Amino acid sequence: MLENLSQQPADKILALMAQYKADERPGKIDLGVGVYKNAEGKTPVMRAIKAAERRLVEEQESKSYTGLAGDPAFADAMIELVLGDSVARDRVAAIATPGGTGACRQGFELVRLANPQATVWVSNPTWPNHVSILKFMDMPQKAYRYFDDSTGGIDFDGMLEDLAGAKAGDIVLLHGCCHNPTGANLTLDQIDEVIAVMEGKGLVPMIDIAYQGFGDGLDADAAVTRRVATAFDNVLIAASCSKNFGVYRERTGILMAISKDADEAALSQQNMNYLNRQNYSFPPDHGARCVSMILSDPELRADWQAELEEVRLGMLELRKQLADELRRLTNSDAFDFVAEHRGMFSRLGLSPEQVETLKTDHAIYMVGDSRINIAGLNKDTVPVLARAIAEVIGD
Ligand code: LMR
Repeated sequence: MLENLSQQPADKILALMAQYKADERPGKIDLGVGVYKNAEGKTPVMRAIKAAERRLVEEQESKSYTGLAGDPAFADAMIELVLGDSVARDRVAAIATPGGTGACRQGFELVRLANPQATVWVSNPTWPNHVSILKFMDMPQKAYRYFDDSTGGIDFDGMLEDLAGAKAGDIVLLHGCCHNPTGANLTLDQIDEVIAVMEGKGLVPMIDIAYQGFGDGLDADAAVTRRVATAFDNVLIAASCSKNFGVYRERTGILMAISKDADEAALSQQNMNYLNRQNYSFPPDHGARCVSMILSDPELRADWQAELEEVRLGMLELRKQLADELRRLTNSDAFDFVAEHRGMFSRLGLSPEQVETLKTDHAIYMVGDSRINIAGLNKDTVPVLARAIAEVIGD
């Protein structure tokens, strides 16, 4: 039987991770996978997570199953974190999922149950795994224009034009903040225009929010999601705790489905529980429990927010330093967008050949579309990267 298998496409981000690991050159720089690293190149366990884990070890009395939707306290805490008071709680159904990827997958599964004809519109570009999962599930997908490589900003007219071509009931997948891979984000005025087009066409929003707190702050980063949440009867939201709580390997995420009223929410909830049961029964609990403990304990929450803010401000500083350095070395403002972008990523607009040269000649690893993880830098490696970029674009 197994001889019938054929090779599956490699995930480019994960393949790059392995290549970097195997590279023995000293001074190599990893700007690939979206994992936060501090100035020493470490991905620390956040202080509040350590404290919550200690408390959990002391206090937890059972590892028996949770409900199919996961711990209700986790859902309450995450709904508050992401949605604030923008939507009545009884309109929101939610299931804990294995990370943000699990939330996206379960969201797509819910779409397929509710409307198998729906095409899912993704930004061009988007996180490659969105495209890959939809393809694997054999769901119809199309791309809407989003990023303008020549300016490093958003092709907003292109986006609106493409969305105007969607059919009623189609899903529009938006990034809540810190767009991955580009770093370019819609303003609130722009999201209002997008909402107007979507309402006009009867489109349904799905939001992937994986970097809340990495851009302009926890509430500012949730503003687009909240604006969308108040505008539609139905909204799907896939949220991840991997990055903002640093619990990558604990697989901690949540799918929320905003429904038009409490009755519809109960039906959504029943379907979402069913989807969890079919795919893995009970979702992982350890990370989720730490997260809800932190969010409901004022002291832990304050400490978590303080550490997250240090992370965010550190990335902003690196952005500014890189933009300044590139302006100086290239004698142009062509890379100023790096300081305007938000979140962990920026797409630099380099060619695949230039990206390859950075890897082979300079031991600098970035995703093939020239996405860099800003957190892979520190103040000493920013000038190294800037010099290498100036050199490859000068070639
Ligand atoms: C990324 O885009 O690098 C992260 O979201 C990690 C992943 O799973 O791809």
